[in-house]
This record gives sequence, C-alpha cells and structure tokens, in this order.
Amino acid sequence: MTNKELTIIGATGFLSTTITQQLSSSGVSIRVIARNPEKARKTLPSNVEIVKGDVSDLQSLTKALKGTETLYIHLNTETTDMSLPFYTEREGIQNIVEAAKLNNVKHILQIAGLESLHEELFHNGTIETRKIREAGMKFIEDSGIPYTFFYCSFFADSFVRFVDNNAVYLFGELPNPVYFTNSHQLAEYVFQAISNPVAYNQKYSVQGSKGLTFQEAAEQFFEHYNPDVTVNQMPLDAVQQLGLPSEEAMFIERIWDLLRGFK
Ligand SMILES: NC(=O)c1ccc[n+]([C@@H]2O[C@H](COP(=O)([O-])OP(=O)(O)OC[C@H]3O[C@@H](n4cnc5c(N)ncnc54)[C@H](OP(=O)(O)O)[C@@H]3O)[C@@H](O)[C@H]2O)c1
Repeated sequence: MTNKELTIIGATGFLSTTITQQLSSSGVSIRVIARNPEKARKTLPSNVEIVKGDVSDLQSLTKALKGTETLYIHLNTETTDMSLPFYTEREGIQNIVEAAKLNNVKHILQIAGLESLHEELFHNGTIETRKIREAGMKFIEDSGIPYTFFYCSFFADSFVRFVDNNAVYLFGELPNPVYFTNSHQLAEYVFQAISNPVAYNQKYSVQGSKGLTFQEAAEQFFEHYNPDVTVNQMPLDAVQQLGLPSEEAMFIERIWDLLRGFK
C-alpha cells in the first residue's frame, strides 16, 4: 500500500479512465473533479471520491481543490477551430492555476503531446492545437507551483477508437517506426511523480522501448486485445466515412495526416 494522494481533473476520458483505475488499484487515494459526477460515478472505481467542478467555473474549482496537494490535469483539445474564446486546456488551465494558488496546491502534473518536447520527430508538421495546450502549460510554469509535464507519444490504446465490426482502420501512408506508449505506462509515470520532489519542474517524454510501424503496432495490440480484429489500411480521406460529427472527423483526419511524418 501507499500513502500517495492525488486529485485528477479530466479523469473520465478515453485514456484517463484507465489511468485513474490503475492509480487507484496501485493504492493511490484519488479525488476526481468532474463536471458531471453522476456520469463519473458510473465509470470510475467505487473508492474514488468524486466532487463537482467545471474548469470554466473558477468558484467550483476553488471549492473542489480544497485540501489538494498534488493535482493531475488530463484535459483535451480536439478541434481545428483556432478562434474559440474558451479552450479547456488554455482558459480552463488559467482557472485551475488560480484555484490551485488559492488552495496552496504543492505540485501540478499534466499530460501533453510529444510534439511539444521533440518537434524534430514530426517530419510533416505538428497539430495546431498544440499552441493552445502550450499556452495553458505556460500558466502553470509561471505560477511558481512545481510542475511535472508528461510529453506522450501515440497511445496504442487509441487503436480501439478506430475499430468497426472487428476491423481496425489505419489512415494514409504510415511508413515510419514509432515508439508507442499506452495508458499503463503513463499511469506508472504519474504514480512515480506523486509526492516526489525529484519530479518537480521536470519535463519527461513518455514512449515505449521499441520502434514499430503503425501496422505492426496495431497487429501486436489486437493479438492480445482481441485476436478477431483485422488491421486494415485506408486512404486518408476515408476518415470522412467513419460517421463522426464533421468537426471531429476534420480533427482526426488532420491527426492521421501529421502521423504520416511521425518518426
Ligand atoms: N491519443 C493519443 O495518442 C495521444 C498522444 C499524446 C497525448 N495525448 C493527450 O491525451 C489527452 C486526451 O486524453 P483522452 O483521450 O483521455 O481525453 P478525453 O477522452 O477527451 O477526456 C477529456 C476529459 O476532460 C474532461 N473535461 C472536458 N471539459 C471539461 C470541463 N469543462 N470541466 C472539467 N472537465 C472537463 C472530460 O470530462 P467529461 O467526461 O465530462 O466529458 C474528460 O474527463 C490530450 O491531452 C492529448 O494531448 C493523446
């Protein structure tokens, strides 16, 4: 057992639900700040405390962060529209930092993308939303509160998002080997950083130990996750046929386009 404690904002997401489950089963005492506590209760372990809070509402955050020493932020920005007045990962982070200062939070951890630490690995450019996330992270750096940023490679978990009828679809030409990560690896990094001054003001890249093409990685992933799933390569514009809302489809297509140059 451990006496580690952690508050998480964004614990109910695609990757973060698994991360929260793993941290909880490692003995970390967890409080989750969720905008919809009833929904969060359905997906999170029963021993996780859930309090209501929305990153667009400073007052709710100030109340929800009471007593927090270590905070892990796991938000997301999936849009191609760069002109919105509010992004959870920029103005939302600004509110979080304000509330964290008022509550004397000792350490802030946050997920980020590898492109912000190792741009040179992206031979076809990087995603525009990175600028929004980096502006949010600057609020954390400037706050004076010790931080730890985790710059993650592509998550193998994400393949599951592209499964339809026992077939997974990879989009566009993807020739390069990539050091994939997964939610369990990130959960281990987060676990190690809690109450650990060695991690203060550090920027870590999070990636696996073996270079694999997307095709190889997907084949190895589904061999264990569900051997009935076949791996299929599709042209990039086939993303539009996934049936996603148009904004999400545009963002996903842009991501796969950039992944062509990820090495
Ligand atoms: N996929 C990859 O390969 C990859 C690679 C590198 C880095 N990443 C990083 O991974 C992160 C995405 O993880 P994910 O897929 O787990 O994200 P996600 O599924 O989009 O989850 C986002 C979380 O934010 C919460 N949230 C949204 N708006 C909020 C608000 N106003 N107040 C409070 N909470 C709010 C959501 O809560 P609700 O449940 O209420 O919606 C949810 O828990 C991004 O930061 C991305 O950069 C991903």
